[in-house]
Amino acid sequence: MNKPKINIISSGKYLPKDKITNQDLEKMVDTNNEWIVSRTGIVTRHKATHETASEMAYLAAKAALDKANFSPDQVDLIIVATITGDQMTPSTANLVQKKLGIEHECMSFDINAACTGFVYGLEIASQMLASKKFRSALIIGSERLTSVTNYEDRNTCVLFGDGAGALLIEPSNSNKHEAYFFNTAKPDVDDSLTVRQYIEMDGRKVFLFAVDVIKRSIERILEDANLTKDAIDVFIPHQANIRIIQAVSKAMDIPMEKFVVNIEHYGNTSAASIPITLSEYLDANPPKNQRVLMVGFGGGFTYGSAIITT
Ligand code: UT7
Repeated sequence: MNKPKINIISSGKYLPKDKITNQDLEKMVDTNNEWIVSRTGIVTRHKATHETASEMAYLAAKAALDKANFSPDQVDLIIVATITGDQMTPSTANLVQKKLGIEHECMSFDINAACTGFVYGLEIASQMLASKKFRSALIIGSERLTSVTNYEDRNTCVLFGDGAGALLIEPSNSNKHEAYFFNTAKPDVDDSLTVRQYIEMDGRKVFLFAVDVIKRSIERILEDANLTKDAIDVFIPHQANIRIIQAVSKAMDIPMEKFVVNIEHYGNTSAASIPITLSEYLDANPPKNQRVLMVGFGGGFTYGSAIITT
């Protein structure tokens, strides 16, 4: 198996200032704080006002670059995972490139793999970096989901929020930095989870799918990497519902303390959820050879995982 070697340089996030609380939602639809907290784990989510997906992506990327004092002049690849890009073309990544003032040869494009988008993007970037044609890459997940949320549908409107997360990586020569990926899709393209004008979802069906594929995806990548679950320091799952994470923890006998969870504050931010969580984890735990397993799942149905070492 091809194992690209990548070094994490830095990470960043951006969350808009405005929030939607459970109490705010109680005024919009027939719901209540107790139901939302006990069924989802969500307390607040952020809401973009003036910020577009490209603006949030740019601000997350800039936070990552500034943190490492890394010049955009050295970035040769930008991938943005999003389902809520500003427009069809130019891409969100093109807009980020422009906002960063990058005028040298740099490849930038968007991908859509719903909530798995960041994990797919990380694999694409890692394989491209292995070609040695690119000095460094920004992989960004950015979503403005509140713009596709129907605030008359209590089944979905309590779940989603806005934000962006970014990861800055470069090729590495060290075996310590071998990355592993397992990404795939199990086509379910009818009405289980769609975003046409608004997000529409068969919650129960997606829930059952999620618990099943997170478990399979973790097992599969551990097998490919020839590692046991005990060799993983932390698990960063897509943040869709605390009960999904708890169900996986129980089914796989992995203690909840090993899962990094922030759904309480942000709700489900689709492609942004894993990089936001990773960025917070890296801020709290400066790189020291920790193995991080990320696992995404979502519309399509897409799913996949990645193991990287900090
Ligand atoms: O990021 C993409 C992946 N997305 C996901 O992973 C989401 C997966 N699904 C879920 O997280 C959960 O299925 C939901 C949070 C969406 C729903 O939770 P649930 O426990 O599966 O509830 P349910 O859909 O089975 O509905 C149970 C009851 C229903 O009432 P009845 O028919 O039993 O009378 C719903 O109408 O809860 C009702 N309900 C609500 N009640 C208060 C649904 N939404 C609400 C609400 N407030 N916001």
